[in-house]
Amino acid sequence: MIRSPRGTKDILPDEINDWQNIEDVFRRITKLFGYKEIRTPIFESTDVFSRSIGESSDIVNKEMYTFEDRGGNLITLRPEMTAALVRACIQNSLANRGSLEKLWYFGPFFRYERPQKGRFRQFHQFGAECLSASTPESDAEVVNLGISIIKELGINDYTLLINTLGSNESRQVYREQLTTYLKKYESDLSEDSQRRLTTNPLRILDSKSEKDQEIISDAPTLGESLDDESKGRFDKVLEILTELDISFSISDKLVRGLDYYSHTVFEFQSNELGAQDSFGGGGRYDGLFEQLGGKHTPSVGFAFGVERLLLILESIGKSQESDNPYDIYIITGDKKYSGFSFKVANILRSKNLKVYVDLMDKSFKSQFKESNKLNCKYTLIIAENEIKNNMFALKNMKTGEQEEYSLEALSDIKEII
Ligand code: HAM
Repeated sequence: MIRSPRGTKDILPDEINDWQNIEDVFRRITKLFGYKEIRTPIFESTDVFSRSIGESSDIVNKEMYTFEDRGGNLITLRPEMTAALVRACIQNSLANRGSLEKLWYFGPFFRYERPQKGRFRQFHQFGAECLSASTPESDAEVVNLGISIIKELGINDYTLLINTLGSNESRQVYREQLTTYLKKYESDLSEDSQRRLTTNPLRILDSKSEKDQEIISDAPTLGESLDDESKGRFDKVLEILTELDISFSISDKLVRGLDYYSHTVFEFQSNELGAQDSFGGGGRYDGLFEQLGGKHTPSVGFAFGVERLLLILESIGKSQESDNPYDIYIITGDKKYSGFSFKVANILRSKNLKVYVDLMDKSFKSQFKESNKLNCKYTLIIAENEIKNNMFALKNMKTGEQEEYSLEALSDIKEII
């Protein structure tokens, strides 16, 4: 048997209600905030990601699905959307000349990671990006949008971690201070962190290694190097969140794994997820448009991992009930009436009823049995007798009552059932 590739998963019909429910919530809530949907290709030129996410990041370093196509172009299956969306905006002159553009997206993403609970090689993200706004209000709006979606999904138990990486200048100062401090303990750091000491020392702050964490606990903090403007900006974001009754926890170790962030960064975490506890994250990326060849366009956004949201909903008992696929089963006594039964089915469907017609050449008796099995509310019978008299019979499957109606009554079926 050929199986799906490791780290990928079929989404089966039984699970689809949960997916559609989440997608409905995204669509509904983003619309209320004035966000418009954007869809871009699933693959991009590799440059889009290597120039933005950072050559030293795990994503670019070891997780991208990159290949040369038949034309010799270096192509990557998108590992995230922000860089691809910025590429699309530059190319299509969206958010051009500083005009506010609010966009959302939903779709598959690809990272060659070690699969485990909540971690896949093909996964789905829902995200929203607010382009051209540099204000702390725009950061707060994006967080508020994320929280509104979480609440609408019925998730009450989660943590919002938030931090500021400050301006490029204050981050540069901090980077130097941190490197000087960590150099003293270089040989005690984990292998990954030793490598990061030269490539991206800030990432060492969120290392999962216990030894690293011990060393980091005494390290200088980013907050101490913040310039006044960065501090004031962050305070304003927190002030708005507080006024909105959004609880948050400031985490000065939160740096996130993508290099394009500056100022506000945040993550949504849940205890329901085990090791992969982050079900969403985002932040401000003021330099990304320029990095990809566009004009200065300060922006902020976030993305949820949809599989992780689904795991949370399942573990808190908020999975969707699967709805009845059919309202009415049409039984024909003879194959010569199958065309007629199709016609009747179409009339009923035009009245918004879900209709089943036998396609398996079943006997009259088995069709009845199946109608029961499918939990149909009604069975509509078209047999020799009924046809002769221009009638149909309708059986209420719950009460067992059966009545005859003239075929004309079909157009008013909603008054009967
Ligand atoms: P990210 O933190 O890399 O950020 O991913 C966002 C979310 O996608 C994560 O919190 C997680 O829920 C989900 N996710 C990531 N990798 C996997 C995986 N292998 N399997 C399952 N779920 C996964 C970004 O991608 C940024 N583009 C977010 C952003 C938008 N920043 C600004 N705007």
